[in-house]
Amino acid sequence: MIESFREDVLHGLKDYPKRLQSKYFYDENGTALFQRIMDMSTYYLTACELEIFRDKTVELAEVLRVEQEPFDLIELGAGDAMKSSFLLKHLVGKKVDFNYMPIDICGQVLSALRDRLKQDLPGLTVIPLYGEYLEMLRKATEQSDRRKIVLFLGSNIGNMELEDAHGLCRSVNRQLKVGDTMLIGFDLQKNPHTVLQAYNDKEGITEAFNLNLLERINRELDADFNITAFQHYQTYDPMDGGCRSYLVSLIDQTIRIGEEFISFRVNEPVAVEISRKYTALEIDRMAIESGFAPITQIADSKNWFVDAVWLVN
Ligand SMILES: C[S@@+](CC[C@H](N)C(=O)[O-])C[C@H]1O[C@@H](n2cnc3c(N)ncnc32)[C@H](O)[C@@H]1O
Repeated sequence: MIESFREDVLHGLKDYPKRLQSKYFYDENGTALFQRIMDMSTYYLTACELEIFRDKTVELAEVLRVEQEPFDLIELGAGDAMKSSFLLKHLVGKKVDFNYMPIDICGQVLSALRDRLKQDLPGLTVIPLYGEYLEMLRKATEQSDRRKIVLFLGSNIGNMELEDAHGLCRSVNRQLKVGDTMLIGFDLQKNPHTVLQAYNDKEGITEAFNLNLLERINRELDADFNITAFQHYQTYDPMDGGCRSYLVSLIDQTIRIGEEFISFRVNEPVAVEISRKYTALEIDRMAIESGFAPITQIADSKNWFVDAVWLVN
């Protein structure tokens, strides 16, 4: 995994404009910083989706048709599974026959999750899958013939450009069979100030989270980024729903990464993350274009966030 990290970092920083992939945010430090982001009152996404999973658990279970036959519940980018735990608890309580397969590229996150679930839900069969979404989904589909329910929460889909998001959904669809279901969390377009504030806190937690990516490159790829010579910059474009994070070089500088050298001009931006916001119509269109039938969208009480349920038919 370290080799693909090195390749992706060098490829992105040699490109123009420069970019880094947000999936590399989540080392141990990044995961701890993301927990602090989720606790911020301005970061509404977690509270909205948590409300759906806490208050609409029965509706979710019904629409996912969990009572029909044994199934595998696969979660892409499970993280701490804070939201899905409400569903897991409900299913275990109802003695539903299912295996839980959390997928994540952060090994520490996965082992912490396995340990917590062992304690909180001892009756649950947990099969952690350490690696990339699609590779691990393939592993899961090879392991059993059970019906699959795939969860993709936290608006992780928003961390992809539109084309890549469509591509991922198509690839997931190809690995699934008729009758399988996917549930995806989407952050909806809303007042632009509300969106921007969620990614631009005054305490600097989001800035620290983004800068940690440079620190991770220093730690793991033998680089010499001076973190104080970069600054976090956030934009939101309400016309296309793109909320984008950049790291801006504050000076002309050359950075060493292993044996390679990368130059940055003063004020040169590096794109580090997109958090795309969707409309309800775009979500249904994405389902259809990637081969699913859109079944329903379950919203929180503010109608800021939806979990969309799609069926393979
Ligand atoms: C924003 S967190 C969301 C966690 C959880 N789904 C939630 O809604 O709270 C994203 C998680 O996805 C994982 N992740 C990001 N990109 C991934 C990828 N390409 N393959 C597997 N896991 C990934 C990260 O390690 C992290 O734990």
